[in-house]
Amino acid sequence: MQKYSFYNDYSEGAHPRILELIQKTNLAQEPGYGYDSLCRQAQEFILERVQNPQAQVFFVPGGTQANLIVLASLLRPHESVIAAVTAHICVHETGAIEATGHKINAVVTPDGKLTPAHIQAVVDGHNDEHMVKPAAVFISHSTELGTVYHKAELEAIARTCLRNGLSLYLDGARLASALTCRAADVSLADLGRLVDVFYIGGTKNGALLGEAIVINDPALQKDFRYVIKQRGGLLAKGRLIGAQFVSLFQDDLYFELAASANRLAQKLAEGIRALGYGFLTDSPTNQIFPVFPNDLIVKLEEDYGFYRMDKLDADHTAIRLVTSWATKEEAVDEFLRRLSGKSGA
Ligand SMILES: Cc1ncc(COP(=O)(O)O)c(C=O)c1O
Repeated sequence: MQKYSFYNDYSEGAHPRILELIQKTNLAQEPGYGYDSLCRQAQEFILERVQNPQAQVFFVPGGTQANLIVLASLLRPHESVIAAVTAHICVHETGAIEATGHKINAVVTPDGKLTPAHIQAVVDGHNDEHMVKPAAVFISHSTELGTVYHKAELEAIARTCLRNGLSLYLDGARLASALTCRAADVSLADLGRLVDVFYIGGTKNGALLGEAIVINDPALQKDFRYVIKQRGGLLAKGRLIGAQFVSLFQDDLYFELAASANRLAQKLAEGIRALGYGFLTDSPTNQIFPVFPNDLIVKLEEDYGFYRMDKLDADHTAIRLVTSWATKEEAVDEFLRRLSGKSGA
């Protein structure tokens, strides 16, 4: 029997409504490289939500590409970016940011989140031209540990960035999950006023692929398409990404899909907590990190796919369980039955 995957939120293809629109528009002739009517419509839907008249939207195929394109265009040769040590750019992008010629100032944080104090300490510690000059802050919402920022926290970070002349960039690979979770008090309109650049992740929320980069700061918009093209991110068939974001944003599918993934992850978490297990972080989103005894993990691995994260001691390890837009309630119920030892399987 094939194992059921809780590895990630991109194990399935795309939501049927996305495929329907791709199919429906398939034979229409459209201009290439993102100048098509679908990209234009998707940009309008997104800008309506972002509510910043100065913002512009650009599409790229993937998250790593979004990060390296944004940071390469933000930073001058001697400048660096501040990020949590657990940030995707620090651990899972094969040195993509460093390969653009920029150091990452990695900050140790317990929950994947940066605070104004973290940022200020890095800035204060880099005070002459023998060191890199921190010029941008990278945060993820939700973070790689499933945690989210509250509006007041984002506002405080934005103020710190402004005071220190830093650009603020928010990685939204899992933005949908963050915006719809039980702890959410941040909206797309908040991001339209609080950060300089962010991206709206499609790949992990029902799209085949694609991320929408929103640039609020007009100075950063100049020549951005050149940077996208130079870094291999400008698709001749940009319409494919445009169509997907039209489907996701024309009637709130984007938010519905993430709310479903969140609800089922939280049902998993409640069931696991009720059985007496703890968690690595307090995550309200679609990634949860329960701590299990190693022998239990070995048993669960017979039927389920998931990542082992941190070894906490000789006998316990935190694993990552991720639900997706397509996760079924029965899969969650069955996992909890297996965990409680009540499953007949
Ligand atoms: C927070 C975050 N940023 C960026 C990425 C990179 O996305 P991709 O795999 O599409 O390059 C991921 C992927 O897991 C992610 O979780």
